[in-house]
Amino acid sequence: MKEGKAKIIFACDSCGATFSKWLGQCPECREWDTIKEHRPAPAPNPFSGYSGELSPVQPISQVALTSLPRINTGISEFDRVLGGGLVRGSVVLIGGDPGVGKSTFLLQVCCRLSEDTKVLYVTGEESPQQIAMRAQRLRLPNQHLLLMAETSVENICITATREQPQIMVIDSIQTMHTAAVGSAPGSVSQVRESAAALTHFAKQSDLAVFLVGHVTKSGDLAGPRVLEHIIDVVCYFEGNSDSRYRVMRAVKNRYGAVNELGVFAMTESGLKEISNPSAIFLSRPSQPMPGSAVMVIWEGSRPLLVEVQALVDESHAENPRRVTVGIEQNRLVMLLAVLHRHGDIVTYNQDVFVNVVGGVKVNETGADLAILLAITSSLRDRPLPTDLIIFGEIGLAGEIRPVPNGQERLKEAAKHGFRRAIIPKANAPQEKFSGMTLFAVEKLTDALAAIADL
Ligand code: TYD
Ligand code: MG
Repeated sequence: MKEGKAKIIFACDSCGATFSKWLGQCPECREWDTIKEHRPAPAPNPFSGYSGELSPVQPISQVALTSLPRINTGISEFDRVLGGGLVRGSVVLIGGDPGVGKSTFLLQVCCRLSEDTKVLYVTGEESPQQIAMRAQRLRLPNQHLLLMAETSVENICITATREQPQIMVIDSIQTMHTAAVGSAPGSVSQVRESAAALTHFAKQSDLAVFLVGHVTKSGDLAGPRVLEHIIDVVCYFEGNSDSRYRVMRAVKNRYGAVNELGVFAMTESGLKEISNPSAIFLSRPSQPMPGSAVMVIWEGSRPLLVEVQALVDESHAENPRRVTVGIEQNRLVMLLAVLHRHGDIVTYNQDVFVNVVGGVKVNETGADLAILLAITSSLRDRPLPTDLIIFGEIGLAGEIRPVPNGQERLKEAAKHGFRRAIIPKANAPQEKFSGMTLFAVEKLTDALAAIADL
């Protein structure tokens, strides 16, 4: 066999991009002096590592099933996000912007858990004094939680082997470093290798590990999502700095459903769970206001009533502005095109601003109809009734498409005192829906006609 020349690649330490030659500045992330040479080891002979023992091959039906041992965290909103509690030997990443409350949250969880399990909290950012003071101020049960200030992965693993905790927190993964990699803490390769080493250790010793990860300005965990594939559960902590509500969402979960949502409020005594969040994002003014509409969105396994506001204002710019908070801008541009083409309402000479109240991020198409009707309401300066809720997806042909869980959405709205609803025809219940007048619409023009009559 011809011996191929080992190929040299150059990889950026900051973003992980690879190149065939060295460059002073990374064209991907624009960082200077981060591109290093990597010589991959020659491809090994697949038989050379034969250890005399082979893993058994078996039909999937014969694999012994054991139920996953789960630990209740004592915070039911967090348990739902995790899919019913924390699994032994799992690695959970808690990602979020700096200051959103990750350390506070994990301290609360760990203090509570340490009452009947051994928990080790490793801090690489704050001093043990700072953490102890916070636990005291929040009046958390602080008798048993073990603290350690350490940033070396090797030292952490040795200590954990000696102390034998069942749960360990690493705050944060960006401050950790392993001797296996030469680059600085926080660089992509350090973060990746440290997380891989800790994951390996967790699996080996049946230890549940929480990794705290800061999200960078561009929305990535530093390095670009390098961790997500090696970790069992990835949760993001989201929240607006000017709103006290924090939403925790699982974006990957090997042991449960994703997009399950936990809602918390940041108070002066730490994070408090909100077990019935369905209408907290709804700050309904007593007076009807033009440009405001209430929609029912579906988050994980439950409905959420949220207000969306639109402001349409005459534009003097060459390109009128399309500004969104809480929804995707492209979605708004598309909806405005549908409004023009199928509703005969023009906005090309108008600035359009859309805001989802309470810092909620909507990534569901069921919000389409409410957004367009809020825009129409602002454009015409005609308020929608305060007892009206709206949901439905809008197609490019101007059709109103059904959304999942229509019945549950209606029930939730009825529970909160809404008496009228504009909904997709396909979502209309067979029988009469008591206490609510339903406007089941098939086309955008039907919905526009419905609000004109209200
Ligand atoms: P922190 O947990 O340190 O954030 P992270 O670890 O995600 O960077 O949260 C810090 C913020 O939370 C800080 O801005 C103050 C606020 N906070 C409260 O409002 N109430 C509290 O009881 C605590 C402990 C923090
Ligand atoms: Mg922190």
